[in-house]
Amino acid sequence: MRISEKILRIKKSAIHEMTRLSKEIDDVAFLSWAKPTSDTPEHIKEGAIDAIKSGLVGGYTTSAGLVELRQEIVKKLGRDNAVKTSISEVITTVGAIEGLCAAVFAILDPGDEVILPSPTYSTHIRLVRLASGKPVMVPLIEEENYALDIEGIRKAITPKTKAIIYCSPNNPTGTVFPEKQLRQLAEIALEHNLMIITDEAYEYFVFDDHKHFSIASIPEMRKKAISCYTFTKTYAMTGWRIGYLHADEELIPHITKTHIPLTICAPVVSQYAAISALKGSQKCVNEFRDHYLATRNLMCDRLDNLDNVFSYNKPGGSYLMFPKIELEEGKDSSAFCKRMLREAKVSTTPGIAFGPTGESHLRLSFCVPEKEINKAFDRMEAYFKQK
Ligand SMILES: Cc1ncc(COP(=O)(O)O)c(C=O)c1O
Repeated sequence: MRISEKILRIKKSAIHEMTRLSKEIDDVAFLSWAKPTSDTPEHIKEGAIDAIKSGLVGGYTTSAGLVELRQEIVKKLGRDNAVKTSISEVITTVGAIEGLCAAVFAILDPGDEVILPSPTYSTHIRLVRLASGKPVMVPLIEEENYALDIEGIRKAITPKTKAIIYCSPNNPTGTVFPEKQLRQLAEIALEHNLMIITDEAYEYFVFDDHKHFSIASIPEMRKKAISCYTFTKTYAMTGWRIGYLHADEELIPHITKTHIPLTICAPVVSQYAAISALKGSQKCVNEFRDHYLATRNLMCDRLDNLDNVFSYNKPGGSYLMFPKIELEEGKDSSAFCKRMLREAKVSTTPGIAFGPTGESHLRLSFCVPEKEINKAFDRMEAYFKQK
């Protein structure tokens, strides 16, 4: 057997490891996945069914995707992201992930450094390694609700730095980076000629007075930003594998060179479903947001009653939170999660999965029914009481 050295150096995903271990135990309260548990709304499924019945889904589309879909995406980007664009600047992708892959492969040369404000989505870290780049993790400021460390980012820049990748709202911390900070980040990118790749998977799930801001809406950033979006979270379409990427039209031909070998085109049936999602009522998105707000509040209440076991920042967005744990001497977050799974039957994700700055934390997902959260916390209360 011969495997690439680069691949051998990449560690297995801790999220998938917890899922695997959870399957070996009966009746686990499962808070490990950032995957909506709701089903895809009916009108979206119907769009797909109609397309199948009309014989529209058996072939490829152009690599960028259906014109009608891209026209709807252009309207959405203008309306909700303040990004004025045209269909020649949009590629439909296999979820946000494929957009991120296509973007990273298009811009990185071996040894290029990529700054990742972290903790961050573990796949971003792995993706940079896969493209033979070097992830440079700059810690978020936990004491300031995981704010971007603008000075820290400036200091981390070297002649090898090519890009910054961030997700806002952030996975795993739930932080919504405010416009002011993202404008500062944009200034850094312009000053040092860096690309910014954004992952805006949770754009619609922001709470309280937080606001989602797309860095591509800053006119000077047009040739510097590659923005990745998805239907996965917004419309509970995880399995449809459909998202899109926005970039300046001069960048698109280069990104297309990586998009085609990755996928040729996004799944055609899902492109039709996505048209229905964008053209149909957006009531479902508001309902999902209201549900996550309720489950976030419930999770915070339950954490408050866990008597100093965890300290946490209230997430302003996403459906994830990242409480800190006091670890026993010599123990790490993986050992902590595995023990809690075995002894309390509660599945969480170890913070170390999100980069070294994630150690001593757990990621908890609140994209689950309220009863699942109550089940998990009833068990944790009993577990920590007897310790
Ligand atoms: C920040 C972030 N980006 C991307 C993804 C994957 O999105 P998609 O299903 O659109 O590929 C996830 C999934 O959990 C995520 O949390």
